[in-house]
Amino acid sequence: MDQDLTRAETHFAFGRNWAEYAAKITEAEVREAEAGLSRLLGGERLDGKRFLDIGSGSGVHSLAALRLGAREVVAVDIDADSVATTRAVLSRFAPDGVYRIERKSVFDLDPTEWGTFDVVYSWGVLHHTGDLDRALACAARMVAPEGLLVVALYRRIWMDPFWRWEKRWYAQASPVAQARARWVYVTLFRLGLRLTGRRFADYVAAYRGKRGMDYYHDVHDWLGGWPYESISPGEVSARMARLHFTPIRVFARHGRFWGRDPGIFGSGCDEYVYRKI
Ligand SMILES: C[S@@+](CC[C@H](N)C(=O)[O-])C[C@H]1O[C@@H](n2cnc3c(N)ncnc32)[C@H](O)[C@@H]1O
Repeated sequence: MDQDLTRAETHFAFGRNWAEYAAKITEAEVREAEAGLSRLLGGERLDGKRFLDIGSGSGVHSLAALRLGAREVVAVDIDADSVATTRAVLSRFAPDGVYRIERKSVFDLDPTEWGTFDVVYSWGVLHHTGDLDRALACAARMVAPEGLLVVALYRRIWMDPFWRWEKRWYAQASPVAQARARWVYVTLFRLGLRLTGRRFADYVAAYRGKRGMDYYHDVHDWLGGWPYESISPGEVSARMARLHFTPIRVFARHGRFWGRDPGIFGSGCDEYVYRKI
């Protein structure tokens, strides 16, 4: 029988991974998260703005929003461990911030309950909800008139069918089997880097520059990130037009083979900033 993939019980344990990652966060990661958010906002601050973080994960980007001056941050995640981790990170790094954290699915967000937000941010989340199209529409309706929707979504790759199969397996595999899969992945990745003249150690050290993230936690997240969907920039553009949004900034990579990359080591996220009109 087909599972309802919008239910948290069918999902990869994202929150446990975020709890481990968050234990290692320092000011350096927080600064990178702030820089990553600031880049998406075109260098503008969030002074006086209400900010909604859907799928907050570790909470480090909710923290970045507070550091960028947001008047109020609301963070939600479907995973209880992500919610607890977001709470721990905000109380540790922003004890005086104005924020609210709740366990809630994007599908249950209701603008009549909390009002709408100047910025709705959902990085690397909506493709893991089990219904990307509906999740995008639910996130969009939380945006205030003239407000921004900032999302990052997995781009389509030729190996999507393989990764769908792999993630479904990994998400329910034993910790030992998962550790073996990570070893195979990292070994092949190292080999790939060597063949292209790059050093693995340099790659891992520079990884923090990607929004304050950590390579090994991202490997676990990538291999296990189930449910999984992907989308092309053209499809995003059509859906956002239907939802009455206009593009402000798009950071998308165009694949080398008929518009798509093979995706041997996975996909990457394209980032989109849209304004509600
Ligand atoms: C890959 S993580 C991204 C976390 C964070 N946004 C970041 O950029 O680091 C995906 C997160 O989305 C959450 N998530 C998945 N489905 C969700 C849903 N229906 N509603 C809210 N959050 C959801 C997961 O629990 C997980 O914490």
